Amino acid sequence: MIVAGSASQALAAELARELEEPLADVAYDRFPDGELLAAVPEFDADRAVIVASTVSSDAHVELLQLQDAVREAGAEEVVTVLPYMGYGRQDEAFDPGHPVSARAVARAISTGTDRVLTVNPHEEAICDFFEPAAESIDAAGRLAEPLPDDLTDPVFLSPDAGAIELAATVRDAYGTGETDYFEKVRHSGTDVEITPSDVDVADRDVVVTDDIIATGSTMSEAIGVLSERDVGRVFVTCVHPLLVRDAYVRLSSAGVEAIYGTDTIERPASDVSVASSVAARLE
Ligand code: R5P
Repeated sequence: MIVAGSASQALAAELARELEEPLADVAYDRFPDGELLAAVPEFDADRAVIVASTVSSDAHVELLQLQDAVREAGAEEVVTVLPYMGYGRQDEAFDPGHPVSARAVARAISTGTDRVLTVNPHEEAICDFFEPAAESIDAAGRLAEPLPDDLTDPVFLSPDAGAIELAATVRDAYGTGETDYFEKVRHSGTDVEITPSDVDVADRDVVVTDDIIATGSTMSEAIGVLSERDVGRVFVTCVHPLLVRDAYVRLSSAGVEAIYGTDTIERPASDVSVASSVAARLE
């Protein structure tokens, strides 16, 4: 039986269709003191597949409750699918006294599950923070699907060295094109500096790929650099379209042709479903 977290309802429904398994009813309540209650009153299956992107602190608590609820309801096996794992970018203690938040949340999630699947974690090593077996699914290649067939001499760029493999994966899935990356220095949560590479983008279509678009600062800087260089069309793609605050508007008004993301986070840019990629690991 598939159990949807509130931030992953469309993906969970698609996964249920792919696997031909029923979707559990989930009942939500909030107590006067603000505490959440997520329950599965009709749950009845040996295996629970909980699909829950942890996009907020409430979503984290909801996931822990759903894990506990399905066990209470008799599930013998609990699989936790984290399409997007929140706090994943805090994968080390960046300053003295800081937590490794990704490890802290992974430990909490581990207590209620027999297996974890996650899609393009910020760093692969995050999987090691979980106690039960944890696997990552690479959905980056799917980002080539909505791209037009007629890209002109395309360049697949990443806004920093860390995302070059994603750009190469999208290029490989598209079938043709050059890859390159910019250098990025982050000064704060929203202040990002991009140093362009030497790649010639004049009159060429460019696809910029990152794992996450959060505030859009990274992509905005990258688009700014490109637009100074007589570029052709610019397409922005990412696995996790977090798109907080005015990020979608900011990128759209910067002159990009389109913004494509997956449904690991449900947003207007979630054109690509990762359901079949997840289903392939669960059949
Ligand atoms: C950082 O290392 C990630 O790969 C992304 O580049 C980052 O999360 C994007 O954040 P923002 O959209 O806020 O610049």
